[in-house]
Amino acid sequence: MEYLEIQGGKPLKGTVEISGAKNSAFPILSAALLIKGKMRFYNLPKILDILGFLEILKDLGVEVQEEDDSFVVDTSRDISTKILSSEYHNLRGTQTLLGALIGRNGEAGLPSLGGCNIGTRPIDLHIKGIKALGVNIGWEGGYLKAKVKDKLRGNLVYFDFPSVGATENLIIAATLASGETLIENAAKEPEVRDLVRFLNLAGANIEMNGSGVIKIKGVKNLHPVDYRIIPDRIESSTYLIMGIMTKGNIVLKNCNPWDFEPVIMKLREAGADININGNEIRGKYRERLHGVNVKTLPFPGFPTDVQPQMMALLSTAQGTSVVIETIFENRFRAAEELIKMGANIRIEGNTSVITGVDTLKGGSVTAPDLRGGAALLIAALSSEGISKIFEPYHIDRGYENAIKKIIGLGGVIERRNIT
Ligand code: UD1
Repeated sequence: MEYLEIQGGKPLKGTVEISGAKNSAFPILSAALLIKGKMRFYNLPKILDILGFLEILKDLGVEVQEEDDSFVVDTSRDISTKILSSEYHNLRGTQTLLGALIGRNGEAGLPSLGGCNIGTRPIDLHIKGIKALGVNIGWEGGYLKAKVKDKLRGNLVYFDFPSVGATENLIIAATLASGETLIENAAKEPEVRDLVRFLNLAGANIEMNGSGVIKIKGVKNLHPVDYRIIPDRIESSTYLIMGIMTKGNIVLKNCNPWDFEPVIMKLREAGADININGNEIRGKYRERLHGVNVKTLPFPGFPTDVQPQMMALLSTAQGTSVVIETIFENRFRAAEELIKMGANIRIEGNTSVITGVDTLKGGSVTAPDLRGGAALLIAALSSEGISKIFEPYHIDRGYENAIKKIIGLGGVIERRNIT
């Protein structure tokens, strides 16, 4: 059984290079299926989730080659409509294959979706949007089957909630549809913006101006483009919090600070010293942080994907903090593990009340999911003594070279095995 052994209490210092955004890579690679030809992608993070997704694409008929610092993806051959790969069940990011296969082949057959166990994660909004474009869609023998009735036609779609995945699916499916699609109450996340930028460079006609309305004028075809994925704002936030909680002084290189401004503002409010200089950020510990209140919201609100890491940070901040999770109903699973390390956290429904303790103590804990795992990593690095984090594959799913990056910052961490 694999685990990470961490000697806590060392302030992290130095520079860390931020990788490409996992949640951009998924929809952009899916959208590449709308295009026939060879494309080069830079800044794709080499993490378990993306490597698994590339295997699914290969199964579908895509040729994938890693070359130096990029991946060459060739979508010229016929693409299969039905996904058989067992990898599919482990990943949430595969959700945008629905819109992509409909756009490419006029039909799709997808097994039920996987991903982190952070809530029920329904897909009613995806189905509503796709249906509105003239697609028969429903569950059949465990598969979500979709088939275009006559041809894909643009339509007006209003989302009750600005779902990231449903917005991306609809953008992808509507790109080659006839006529105009208007998505109202669409997601505004930077990863959606990145997808739109990629598609427009490939010849699509999509307007996204940050108002929550996205206008897609269908085009006849797209052409191959080479593309660089944006930096990962969740990885950036995680290292920034890690640097501050370990009482360190770190510089994030190649990040996009405006994509995670809500996190930066909260950290400043808690008393952290943060300086932005173009695509670099310095995060420095100044004095003991004080408690702040956090409420997760769709972008530009505080990201749910940074909520567990923030909870770890607040567990040693002076005073009481209240964290309200409004996006996923089962996203406090890291709290139970943080409590084992000495944190004082009380959970009531979607609210957690954290009373700051002086210091956390090393312990044996289990990563409950990807971001919960990151929270435990932050806690372990800042605590007194040695910690063991079991099930570290959750962390490997979303953080490229995490151990190497942490060692580069002076952290003491090792991957070990008990047989
Ligand atoms: C994406 C991100 C995930 C992030 C989340 C919110 C990827 C691969 N994952 O997930 O890391 O935490 O955005 O920023 O990009 N909902 C419905 N019906 C639907 C779809 C969603 O009710 O059809 C609800 C969900 O249950 C959840 C909320 O909407 O409560 C947000 O989900 P959504 O924005 O769709 O997240 P994902 O795209 O799954």
